[in-house]
Formats: sequence, structure tokens, C-alpha cells
Amino acid sequence: MVLSQAEVFIINRYAASELAGALLLGKKARETDSPYLRRMLTWHCAEEARHGMLWYNLINELQIPSVPMHDEQKEGYFSKAGYVKTMVEFLAFVHCYEHRVPFHFSVHADWTTNSRVKELLHQLIREEDAHIDWIKKYLIGIEKTEGATVREAMVKFRAIEEETYHEDLGKIRMLGKEGITLADALTAGLASFTGVRPWG
Ligand SMILES: [Fe+2]
Ligand SMILES: [Fe+2]
Repeated sequence: MVLSQAEVFIINRYAASELAGALLLGKKARETDSPYLRRMLTWHCAEEARHGMLWYNLINELQIPSVPMHDEQKEGYFSKAGYVKTMVEFLAFVHCYEHRVPFHFSVHADWTTNSRVKELLHQLIREEDAHIDWIKKYLIGIEKTEGATVREAMVKFRAIEEETYHEDLGKIRMLGKEGITLADALTAGLASFTGVRPWG
């Protein structure tokens, strides 16, 4: 089944984002002094690298173009990693991004007409649970001693994520007819996501 140029672009963005996430997580695993965080960040890095591989395998299987993705304007969420100073900030940075993923992927899965894309999106939604869960538990665990720092980091990165996500919606909308229908579906679904806190 032929994919629209919009969906080809979006899938390439997913693949590149998974890989970018893996690299950031791996870098942090190398920096931390905590054995627990080293193990979890290494696992998380491997997970995102595997997700990147799943997308690139699908790109290869569907015989659609694999295109390099670089955020030259430094507008995307991952380009904001420069604002991350501490481990708490880094975990909040990852968590705020991943918290959006199941919503975004489920709207895309309902929208796409390609069964293989739909299948992979559903697989990744399921796999995202464990990523979200461990960081959420960790941040809740340290909230007692570092509550103000955690809350400040969450507020900061939620705002950045919100802003960059809306910019991304604008970019999806620029991808022609298909981009407009996907952006419309995502915008229509936003009400169900907005207001859902990363934790209770
Ligand atoms: Fe992922
Ligand atoms: Fe993830």
C-alpha cells in the first residue's frame, strides 16, 4: 500500500526521534553515579534504539524513502535538551515527552490506512507503558526529599513540550492534504489529553 508523502515524513521523524532519545538516554547512563539509574537508563536507551530499528525496518519493508532528519532550526523538543542541567531535569524532560506518545500514536493508528504502520504504532503504545512507569515511580519516590525541584522541572518541561507539540502540529498541517487530516484528528483529540497530569 502506497503511503502519502506526509506519512513517509512523519514515520521518518518517529524513527529519528527514537534514535535521538536512545542517544540522550545512553549518554546520561554514562554520566550517573547511581547504579539503579545506570541500569534503568541503559535499559531505556536499548528500548528506544530498538524502537528506532523497528521503524527503520518498517521503512525498509514498505520500501519508502529513508530520509535524514535534522532539526536545523533547533525548534524540536529534543533540541531543548540543552536546557537540561540535572538528572531530575533530564528525567522530567524524558517523562514529559513520553507522556504524550500514547495519545499521539493512538490518533495516528486510528487515522492511518496502512495495516503495518497501525500494527507497529499499537505495539509501541503498549511498550511505552514501562518507560513512563519507571520514571514516574522514580520521580514520585524522590518527591519527598526533592519535591520542589521535581515540580519545578515538571512545570518547565511540560510547558516546553506543550509549545513544541503545537509547533509540530503546525508542521504536520503543512504536509499537504494528508497532513491536514492527521493534524485535524490530533487537534480534535487534544481535549482528551490536555489536563491529564503526568501523574495523579
Ligand atoms: Fe520509543
Ligand atoms: Fe519511550
